[in-house]
Amino acid sequence: MIGDKKVILSGIQPSGDSITLGNYLGALNNWVKLQSEYRCLYMLADMHTLTVRQEPSQLRARTLSLLAQYIAAGLNPQENILFIQSHVPAHAELTWILNCYTQMGELGRMTQFKDKSKRHADNINAGLYDYPVLMAADILLYQADMVPVGTDQKQHVELARDIAQRFNGVHGDVFTIPEPYIAPPSAGSKIKSLQDPTAKMSKSDPNPNGCIFMLDPPEVVIKKIKRAVTDSEAEVAYREGKDGVNNLLTIYAAVTGKSVEDAVSEFAGKGYGDFKAAVGEAVAECLRPFQLNYRTLMNSKDYLESVYKDGAEQAGRIAERTLNKVKKKVGFVPR
Ligand code: TRP
Repeated sequence: MIGDKKVILSGIQPSGDSITLGNYLGALNNWVKLQSEYRCLYMLADMHTLTVRQEPSQLRARTLSLLAQYIAAGLNPQENILFIQSHVPAHAELTWILNCYTQMGELGRMTQFKDKSKRHADNINAGLYDYPVLMAADILLYQADMVPVGTDQKQHVELARDIAQRFNGVHGDVFTIPEPYIAPPSAGSKIKSLQDPTAKMSKSDPNPNGCIFMLDPPEVVIKKIKRAVTDSEAEVAYREGKDGVNNLLTIYAAVTGKSVEDAVSEFAGKGYGDFKAAVGEAVAECLRPFQLNYRTLMNSKDYLESVYKDGAEQAGRIAERTLNKVKKKVGFVPR
C-alpha cells in the first residue's frame, strides 16, 4: 500500500519504434482505467531490452518515444509514476540479492527463456537467463499488490511471488506478495495477427502486415487490414472456423466500443471488401488522436524530461526504502 491505495506496477520494453494496437487495447487502455483507483507505477524496461543486442542511439530514442506513447495513450504523469528502469539503481542492486534466492532450475524452466534462447541461439547471455529476477526486483521494490501483464508474462510474476515468499520465509515479512492481474478478457486482449489469426498480434510477427502499430500512418493501417487473411465464404459472421473474420470483428468492436453482435448486424449482407474498408477506417480513426498527442509530446522534449526526472525521483524514494530494509535483513553493514 502507498497511502491508502493498493500498488500496481507494470512496464513495457522499449524494444520497438511503436507499441502495437494489441498493446494499446490489451494493456495501456486498461492501465488508464486503473490510474485513479490504485497507486500506479509504469516503467520503461530499458534494462530488460539489453538481453537482446540493441543499437544504443536507437534504444535511447525508443525509450523517450515509448514515454511519449504512454502519455499519448492516456497515462497521466500527474496521477501515475512514469519512470525509466535504469534511472533507479535499486533495480540492479536488488536483482543481485534476489539472484542468491533463486534457483538455476527455476530460471531454466521459464518458457520465455527457452523460446528466446532458441530464437537468439548466438547470444544466450546470462541476462537472458536472469531476466525474470530483474523483473521480480522491479515488482518487489515497490511492494506491488498487482501486476497487470499479458498471459506470456504470468509465469514471471509467479516466480516473483515464489522468490518473495522464500525471502520472507527466511527474513520475515519484507515483501508484499504480488498477484498477476490478467486484464478482464475484453475484446482488446484477444487481438490476433492479421496474417495468422490463430496467433497473437505481435510486433515480432514474421509478416509485417500481421501487426498494426499505433504509429502506423492511416493509409498503412487501411492497407494492412485490406490484406488481412479471411476465408472464402464471403459472409461477415462471428463463429468458429472464421478466425480471420472473427479477428476483424473483434478489432472493430474494440476500437469503436461497440459489441461484436452489433458489428455483425452492421455488416450483414456486406462483402469483405466493404467490411475491411470500414474496419480500416475505424482503426485509423482510433489512432488519430493518439498520434496527434504523440507528435505534440515529441516536440516537447523538456516536458518529457521533466516527467521522467520526476518519475525517477518518486520511484527512487519508494525503491530505496525497500532496498534498505532488504540490505539490513541480509546482514549488510549500513553505510
Ligand atoms: N517483461 C515484461 C515484458 O516484456 C516487461 C517488464 C519488465 C515488466 N519488468 C516488469 C512487466 C515488471 C511487469 C512488471 O512484457
